[in-house]
Amino acid sequence: MTEPFDAALRPKSLTEYVGQEKLKDKLGVYLQAARNRKEALDHTLLFGPPGLGKTTLAHIIAAELGVNIRVTSGPAIEKPGDLAAILTNSLEEGDVLFIDEIHRLGRVAEEHLYPAMEDFKLDIVLGQGPAARTIELPLPRFTLVGATTRPGLISAPMRSRFGIIEHLEYYTPEEIATNLLRDARLLGFGLVEEAALEIGGRSRGTMRIAKRLLRRVRDYAEVAGESTIELERAYSALDKLGLDTAGLDDRDKKYLETLIHRFAGGPVGVDTLATAISEDALTLEDVYEPYLIQLGFIKRPPRGRVATAHAYDHLGLPVGGSDGDLGLYTN
Ligand code: ADE
Repeated sequence: MTEPFDAALRPKSLTEYVGQEKLKDKLGVYLQAARNRKEALDHTLLFGPPGLGKTTLAHIIAAELGVNIRVTSGPAIEKPGDLAAILTNSLEEGDVLFIDEIHRLGRVAEEHLYPAMEDFKLDIVLGQGPAARTIELPLPRFTLVGATTRPGLISAPMRSRFGIIEHLEYYTPEEIATNLLRDARLLGFGLVEEAALEIGGRSRGTMRIAKRLLRRVRDYAEVAGESTIELERAYSALDKLGLDTAGLDDRDKKYLETLIHRFAGGPVGVDTLATAISEDALTLEDVYEPYLIQLGFIKRPPRGRVATAHAYDHLGLPVGGSDGDLGLYTN
């Protein structure tokens, strides 16, 4: 039942949104200016690793502007007709259209989006062959909010149509703790600050992970008959969940151990590494690696992936002392 839990806790204004201070400062000005001019906000592209609150921010933008939000995603828009249906159906003046994973929008849909973004019109082709003709459908002035974990995959023409392009950062343990304490208050259970910080420190700087961990730690506390989550309970529950002090889970550790033991710390190509840990390369690049890079545990030079001395340290291994012969029999 994650949905009601999340929806009830979703902040409704920029002030309630924790962290991302620089982004909030700028966005606050843009929102105020758009409101004063009674105009739609410029199209906005939000990028950053998954789970940092891009969707939440899109909802806040709509709420702050006092408009409706329509939510869809790149992969959901397959045919130009899908886009036409969304744009002509129920989108009103000033509304927000949120397209998650916008880098996964097909090329044809993307090209139809250009005139919609730029001139607020949609070109619709009627008929086929020589008899085909194009009609121009006017659209209300809307704000496209696009979210992506992979800004590099956004084409230059697409990118140039966004007036606001902003990056979301990982959260500090303190910022996460602030948000978790608020969640606990709203949900009516006790959480001491030290426990919130402990969860915050093991959440890979990611709000979504923190919220999930809080739910699990709360389960452990409740089953033990405790109405408040104390530090000791947070420790023991997080250990049971397989999270270490840096917030690495079993999959992250497998990544690092494979890189170090099987590939002598690298460099190794991402596809080879992905196969070795039974993952796909995109998941490695989007989910695992941004945080490992943030911690300084890996590097991504052009030749592949390399474990740093910090990674050896963290795993309690001597630097450069990888047991290369493990590679002979692990798979
Ligand atoms: N939910 C997701 N991200 C959030 C944030 N930064 N602050 C508050 N709630 C959130």
